[in-house]
Amino acid sequence: MLHLLTLWLLALPIGSFEYSNDYTTWHTEHWRQYLSHLVGVDNAQGLEIGCYEGRSTIWLEQHIFTGKDAHMTCVEVSTKQLELVRRNIDAAGLTGEVVALYGPSQHVLRGLPINHYDFVYVDGCHLAHCALADLVNAYLVTKPGGLIMIDDLSMGRVWRAFAAFVRVFTEPDPDDQHVVLEVLEVRRHRRATDMQPGVSILRKVGEPYHDRP
Ligand SMILES: C[S@@+](CC[C@H](N)C(=O)[O-])C[C@H]1O[C@@H](n2cnc3c(N)ncnc32)[C@H](O)[C@@H]1O
Repeated sequence: MLHLLTLWLLALPIGSFEYSNDYTTWHTEHWRQYLSHLVGVDNAQGLEIGCYEGRSTIWLEQHIFTGKDAHMTCVEVSTKQLELVRRNIDAAGLTGEVVALYGPSQHVLRGLPINHYDFVYVDGCHLAHCALADLVNAYLVTKPGGLIMIDDLSMGRVWRAFAAFVRVFTEPDPDDQHVVLEVLEVRRHRRATDMQPGVSILRKVGEPYHDRP
């Protein structure tokens, strides 16, 4: 009984969260559906572009990246947001578990390890050129077999970036028809019932930059 009480107390947030908008809850169904294979997996790694208030990163750390040495990292360009994110990470009792990196994702991701992340969530700058750079960089840092999710496809400029990325990355190799990206799901428009923004889930297939048999 004492053991159960201790576990319950450890699961409680340490402080109070400073959240003003919830961009997380409408995606949790998707994350449970597509990321369940990562729950409890040691060393699984997730990355979010655009931390905002840290809510999605904290949710993913608490519900998906639960294995030993499994972690979420997020990238945020606003110092004000980053301070808030770090306070929320502390409030969740996840200091030292979740890493929040400062800088424009288009630069920061170039310093992250290639083929490393099991899941990358693209939800930062929503200009077409930023979103396209984020998708290409997300592709590079995702493990072969790993998943990429992009949010806000209902915005025309995000959709254009997404469409350009998918068009090029799903084109089969003319020699052997090898494909390096699969589209698992795409929903362009908001779901009217709950205002969920358009999203897509993509899978990086194989390792396109090495020799293939
Ligand atoms: C829509 S919010 C993200 C919401 C968040 N993903 C969530 O689920 O709670 C977009 C965030 O991306 C950040 N951002 C915008 N441009 C960025 C960039 N170039 N690099 C990193 N973060 C960026 C913004 O400051 C903002 O906090």
